[in-house]
Amino acid sequence: MTSTAVNFFSTILLLCILINSSATDVLRINQTLRDGHTIVSQHGEFELGFFTRGSSTNRYLGIWFKKISYGTVVWVANRDTPLNNTSGMVRIDNKAILLVSNASNTIIWSSNYSTSVNNPVAQLLDTGNLVVRDEKDGGQENFVWQSFDYPGDTMLPGMKFGKNLVTGQQWYYSSWKSVDDPSTGSFIHRMDTHGYPQLLVWKDSKIQARTGPWVGNRFSGDPVPKANRIFLSEFFIEQREIYYAFHLLNRSSITPVTRLMLDPNGGRQRLIWNYQNQEWTTYRTIQVNDCDRYAPCGPYATCDPNNSPKCACLRGFKPRSSEKWEAADWTDGCVRTNSLDCDNGDGFVKYTGVKLPDTQQSWYNLTMGLKECKSLCLKDCNCTAYSNINVENGGSGCLLWFGGLMDIKVDTEDAQSIYVRMPASDLDESKRSGVRRILIISLTIALTAMSALILFYLFKKRKLKRKGKFCSHLAERLSSNEDENLELPLFDFRKIVKATTNFSNDNKIGEGGFGSVYKGTLEDGQLVAVKRLSDSSRQGIDEFKNEVSLIAKLQHRNLVSLLGYCIEEQERILVYEYMPNNSLDSFIFDEKRRLAGWQRYYSIINGVARGLLYLHQDSKLRIIHRDLKASNVLLDQDMNPKISDFGMARSFGGSQTEANTTRVVGTYGYMSPEYAIDGLFSTKSDVYSFGVLVLEILSGKRNRCFEHPDHNLNLLGHAWRCFNEDKLKELMDETIVKPTDHHEVFRVIQIGLLCVQEYPEDRPEMSSVVLMLNSKIALPNPKKPGFFTERRRNERDYSSSKRILSSSYDYSITAIVPR
Ligand SMILES: *[C@@H]1O[C@H](CO)[C@@H](O)[C@H](O)[C@H]1NC(C)=O
Ligand SMILES: *[C@@H]1O[C@H](CO)[C@@H](O)[C@H](O)[C@H]1NC(C)=O
Ligand SMILES: *[C@@H]1O[C@H](CO)[C@@H](O)[C@H](O)[C@H]1NC(C)=O
Ligand SMILES: *[C@@H]1O[C@H](CO)[C@@H](O)[C@H](O)[C@H]1NC(C)=O
Ligand SMILES: *[C@@H]1O[C@H](CO)[C@@H](O)[C@H](O)[C@H]1NC(C)=O
Ligand SMILES: *[C@@H]1O[C@H](CO)[C@@H](O)[C@H](O)[C@H]1NC(C)=O
Ligand SMILES: *[C@@H]1O[C@H](CO)[C@@H](O)[C@H](O)[C@H]1NC(C)=O
Ligand SMILES: *[C@@H]1O[C@H](CO)[C@@H](O)[C@H](O)[C@H]1NC(C)=O
Repeated sequence: MTSTAVNFFSTILLLCILINSSATDVLRINQTLRDGHTIVSQHGEFELGFFTRGSSTNRYLGIWFKKISYGTVVWVANRDTPLNNTSGMVRIDNKAILLVSNASNTIIWSSNYSTSVNNPVAQLLDTGNLVVRDEKDGGQENFVWQSFDYPGDTMLPGMKFGKNLVTGQQWYYSSWKSVDDPSTGSFIHRMDTHGYPQLLVWKDSKIQARTGPWVGNRFSGDPVPKANRIFLSEFFIEQREIYYAFHLLNRSSITPVTRLMLDPNGGRQRLIWNYQNQEWTTYRTIQVNDCDRYAPCGPYATCDPNNSPKCACLRGFKPRSSEKWEAADWTDGCVRTNSLDCDNGDGFVKYTGVKLPDTQQSWYNLTMGLKECKSLCLKDCNCTAYSNINVENGGSGCLLWFGGLMDIKVDTEDAQSIYVRMPASDLDESKRSGVRRILIISLTIALTAMSALILFYLFKKRKLKRKGKFCSHLAERLSSNEDENLELPLFDFRKIVKATTNFSNDNKIGEGGFGSVYKGTLEDGQLVAVKRLSDSSRQGIDEFKNEVSLIAKLQHRNLVSLLGYCIEEQERILVYEYMPNNSLDSFIFDEKRRLAGWQRYYSIINGVARGLLYLHQDSKLRIIHRDLKASNVLLDQDMNPKISDFGMARSFGGSQTEANTTRVVGTYGYMSPEYAIDGLFSTKSDVYSFGVLVLEILSGKRNRCFEHPDHNLNLLGHAWRCFNEDKLKELMDETIVKPTDHHEVFRVIQIGLLCVQEYPEDRPEMSSVVLMLNSKIALPNPKKPGFFTERRRNERDYSSSKRILSSSYDYSITAIVPR
């Protein structure tokens, strides 16, 4: 055998040994796990090893998902004592303590000692739990130590959130300092057990936010849970422990995995793994703002996010300081107008549709009925309110409040009632105002009925003028809501069926988050694009109306024009002008279809910029697109770009420039940080998406799933790096750019980078972008882009297999986040 062959075989041998040694899920005494090696749970769900985040060289021992979402870290051991380089190692000693040490064998992290066992092993379970146990004893109760008892920022199915009443140990969560820094951040989410248990988010020693008390099927203030087949939430109040937990209902390979996370800004999120898109989708997020902040209105006041001002005193209460209250400083809250008189027949006023107040000063009994509860409250002069605990099965349990009622959020979907103690004098008054209310209500009903009659008559008249009866239902709804009528033709559903040959697959030209798009030929031979919103699409009647009324009013050469619409029973259909060249993405990401010549792309970039500028500034309405991406830019026969898909667009009143949504819609890779994380959107979030698009056009690469042999940055990070290292040539696609174009292309890259800067206030408005594109004015230097290291080091190996799993990367996601 030649020496190369020997080498070859010994390499194979070595590889086998390595694979063997890493194919285990346990770590035994006298074994050392060095940086670079990992332990994988039995069925490959999780992996334990050392990792780095962001641009830092700090290394941490942690656990991450392996099978799905490779690299999503769920637990970190030495989060506050990082290793400096890759010479760290972990082992288990004979006292059953896990030890992480550095190159000079100094122990920098250790697990807690509890009891010693004969033959300790550390094992990574498929639940993501790292446990220390006796080799021969796998029973859950006998774990000597488990990582689930020391959570970081992530709650996995099967973990507990609460308190062990015997040992006093708390299972609580603490945020990372930042997305790339696992060290303990400033937010802590822990259970408060002073009164009836509730979950509080703390920053330093101040309460930032509160999850209401558990009311049987959810936490008060949370939306009523719809039957979901993914996970089940449970709350246990037992002698030895009180905790919240959730578990997956069906642990098959295709049921989504879900986790809860406390993000570095103190927001709470439930994420669900989306197998189709291969990414974590936000199922629900609670930010620390507005009425979700703790007690923004002080005691005895309600906070209503849909009201302005958001704070209001309860009936029979007045602001403690009217000056402050009028100056929008509500923190002092409200006081009683008439004081209680415990001996002379206090009573209660019932409130429904609120999140139950802070229970730090409360008392509870899980079995007592409401009647007994009331009399108990009446007997105690310090009791200020009472309610049922469990809302299910007609209600049970008794919860009493003492002291000021704090942090009451209006939540109209919540059917839970609370009874607030009032002096007898106030009760009479509220009865009288009740009579007044009934009067007002009757009057309102009468007036509404009359206007409805008049409207009905008017529509009858109008409808006679229209041909056909189809689609009339929607027409009425639309016209009755729109002051300016939609001057848009209604299409006959049958005609559309005919034009698209009954929505045949041959005519299908696109498929998006909201349904399918078909090519159609009308009777007069005109080509149209028919967007058929799917039944299951989440676009409800509201979005549909939104899209129709918005687009009908928009006329610009860089916006696709709507020719008409139709609704028939479940069907909602939009008819657009037909774009023979389909969408821009195939001309960017499909190498074979790359257009010849930079000038073509330059004019497309320019066209998109002008279309966006029109939306933002020039049209009568201010419109934020919210989902600008390559597949939403269509090309006509002359390759003129036209922006499409306004289903998610939001129109703004005159001077409003920024808004917040609890419903984040958009596409990963194009969403700006403030929008993806905080739900804040503005024209600047569109500018960000535009910047991503520009960089994608120039490089021919997708921002998401971008790969580079030298680093793990995404496209934005790569562009930023090229810019700083003066290597812009590396970024651009040489097949479209001639050397004579370099100067211009560099300039456009710089404009793209300006658009994707991390902070919205740094990004230019579209008007400046159009100016920069069409002039030679000097450009400022861009700052760091947002989301520029989206991915982790290890993810690189995985992205190739990702590609097989998902054929299209940029489905729109719609994360409906109920209040
Ligand atoms: C670990 O190593 C020590 C010293 O080398 C030895 O005495 C002991 O038997 C070993 N333990 C196991 C479980 O292999
Ligand atoms: C990392 O290096 C610094 C000084 O360079 C030292 O103070 C620190 O203890 C080291 N940390 C670890 C975990 O080795
Ligand atoms: C890590 O740092 C220590 C001391 O700074 C050094 O002795 C050791 O060789 C380094 N290890 C690696 C893998 O760089
Ligand atoms: C190991 O950590 C200790 C304490 O943090 C530190 O003093 C020592 O320099 C570190 N050794 C190396 C090789 O980094
Ligand atoms: C170990 O337990 C002690 C007290 O029981 C506690 O103060 C300490 O924080 C624990 N250490 C870790 C790493 O959890
Ligand atoms: C679990 O999922 C499988 C596959 O989707 C399904 O066939 C089965 O009925 C589910 N079981 C339960 C209890 O939902
Ligand atoms: C709760 O109320 C029930 C019914 O009134 C009573 O039997 C029980 O003793 C109470 N429990 C506690 C802990 O007060
Ligand atoms: C009510 O509260 C006051 C002050 O907090 C306290 O002094 C008093 O004893 C309480 N009364 C009852 C009946 O608990």
